Amino acid sequence: MLVHESAWMPTGLDPEVPSAARVYDYFLGGYHNLAVDREFAHRAQETMPDLPQILRTSRRFLRRAVHYLLEQGVTQFLDLGSGIPTAGNVHEIAQEAAPHTRVVYVDRDSVAMAHSALMLEHNDNAAALRADLRHPRDVLRSDTVLTMLDLNEPVAVLMSAVLHFVEDDTEAQSIVAGYRNALAPGSYIVISQGTQDSAGEQGEQVIRLYDQTDSPFTARSRDRFERLFKGLDLVEPGVVYVPEWRPESPEDVDEHPERSCAYGAIGRKPLY
Ligand SMILES: C[S@@+](CC[C@H](N)C(=O)[O-])C[C@H]1O[C@@H](n2cnc3c(N)ncnc32)[C@H](O)[C@@H]1O
Repeated sequence: MLVHESAWMPTGLDPEVPSAARVYDYFLGGYHNLAVDREFAHRAQETMPDLPQILRTSRRFLRRAVHYLLEQGVTQFLDLGSGIPTAGNVHEIAQEAAPHTRVVYVDRDSVAMAHSALMLEHNDNAAALRADLRHPRDVLRSDTVLTMLDLNEPVAVLMSAVLHFVEDDTEAQSIVAGYRNALAPGSYIVISQGTQDSAGEQGEQVIRLYDQTDSPFTARSRDRFERLFKGLDLVEPGVVYVPEWRPESPEDVDEHPERSCAYGAIGRKPLY
């Protein structure tokens, strides 16, 4: 569907700088992106032809993670770096299975949050908050979170394909710890993120390209990724390439899971 940009573009955007959120939207088949984002996406895909498939694989991991959490009885989700709404948003997956599930979307991108708010206009159990996930205290004390979520009960915090936009490992670990410490025991933290362990020279080049966007990219090795889960119990199968995380169908995983170039895992805050 073609919708003129002026109909959806918030004011104050720099139309010359590609946005990670809008590039991702383009790769997933959305239309909330600008020429600068599409040009960037084409250059990135020329460099790494598997990129659209990599992003779809990451999105499938998110879907399976939500399914797993619903099976564990989770009824509250805080989706950090949720992106521009696309097919299979967390509240759609969750509320289809359990209609009273509560979901708060958080993103710093103005397009992502404007469209999330519009999508949720008639949904009393979901809300959108424009905020920077690097400040857990501000996010968790926001009116939106305090109104929507009961932090005395378990919550699933989702950080899907977003912590690679936090450069420093110590900062990334302290962000995760900020959420972990504030959550009730029995809460979950889901993280997936890009790695260079299997991406080779193409991956290096795409990472360098991302320096031109509003969100430079930091890949993490398996060890660096696993350290993000300090203080949490890893749910089986632990840290794996995202297609290997509890595949639900043969389409979820092929013989080359490393081509996803992303690790995923879920940690649970211990009860004691
Ligand atoms: C690649 S998209 C991932 C979207 C979704 N989580 C998924 O897995 O499909 C990354 C999103 O994270 C957002 N983001 C990056 N850094 C952020 C930050 N510090 N605070 C909030 N959002 C952030 C970007 O704006 C973008 O929408």
